[in-house]
Amino acid sequence: MIRFIEDRETKSSIARQILESLTEWFEVEESREGYINDSKDWPFFAYYDGDKPAGFLCLKKTGDATMELAVMGVLKEYHRKGVGRRLFAAAKDYACAQGYSYIQVKTVRSGMYPDYDITNAFYRSLGFRELEVLETYWDEANPCQIYIMSLKSAVQTIATRHSYRGKFLDEKVPREDLMAIASAGIDAPSGCNKQTTDLIVVDDSEVLERIKAVIDPPVAQTAPAMIVVLSRKINAYRDRCFAIQDYSAAIENMLLAIVELGYQSCWYEGHITDEDRICDKIAQILNVPEGYDVVCILPVGKAADDFHAPSKKPLSERVKFNSWS
Ligand SMILES: Cc1cc2nc3c(=O)[nH]c(=O)nc-3n(C[C@H](O)[C@H](O)[C@H](O)COP(=O)(O)O)c2cc1C
Repeated sequence: MIRFIEDRETKSSIARQILESLTEWFEVEESREGYINDSKDWPFFAYYDGDKPAGFLCLKKTGDATMELAVMGVLKEYHRKGVGRRLFAAAKDYACAQGYSYIQVKTVRSGMYPDYDITNAFYRSLGFRELEVLETYWDEANPCQIYIMSLKSAVQTIATRHSYRGKFLDEKVPREDLMAIASAGIDAPSGCNKQTTDLIVVDDSEVLERIKAVIDPPVAQTAPAMIVVLSRKINAYRDRCFAIQDYSAAIENMLLAIVELGYQSCWYEGHITDEDRICDKIAQILNVPEGYDVVCILPVGKAADDFHAPSKKPLSERVKFNSWS
């Protein structure tokens, strides 16, 4: 069973117990003691066999988007039993949930020592890919292989997106992130490529305040940015208009980009297009020309509150193969 350990002394005691038994990998006392001491400050995952710790893994933040698998050890009698994989799966879930995009790990390059060849094969089997070898990072006898793994995939992002209606942190969203989100919207397909969707990105606090003031009952009041989605009813061919499908595809693309970049949002359409026509008040504030409808707002910001996935019907109730029954 995997446990997330928070107590500093328990962390260092587990790290000591395990690393001191793995002399093939951790024979240099100074670096071993370094790991044992540093492990107190790192997110720490331990594998327990009953009451006995049999393996552990620590992560450390190395950049805004990246965590490093800083140290990992599994008692030899537990090797080849899936313990390392389970520790890594827990660590990966943790890094994903914290919004990180990559995990890196450093080891001695393949072809130097048989024990490290096994380590390299293990990391590759987890899905790590070679990033770079730094020949003298440690010393010439131990060239440093850096492996990298992306934590983001479209399927993973889709599974972690949920509507967020809580408070946002008081942090500006950088323009480049807003541009990346808007560009994901513009990249969406549209019927006959009529491109009936346009966007107004709002990050000016004064304009934001004016929009928030007309949203009654209030939603997204703490959002540091907002994307206002505009739609034009242009026929794709004959009398067929796909404007709704077009902006829906653009919105979903943007929701996914928002989550992928570490922000949260919610598709607010019903709320602003109801009889009280908040959408028209927003259009007026933003000088939206005739012929364009404001159909949705997407707040963008970092979540300040916890949130959970809503319950959904089981997959089997909604997805069939080959025939309805
Ligand atoms: C067309 C459309 C309109 C929506 N309008 C609103 C809205 O006005 N207010 C709101 O809180 N959520 C709105 N939502 C979000 C849905 O309530 C939400 O997607 C649904 O409850 C499922 O939750 P999930 O997004 O976490 O999967 C809208 C979603 C869609 C697709």
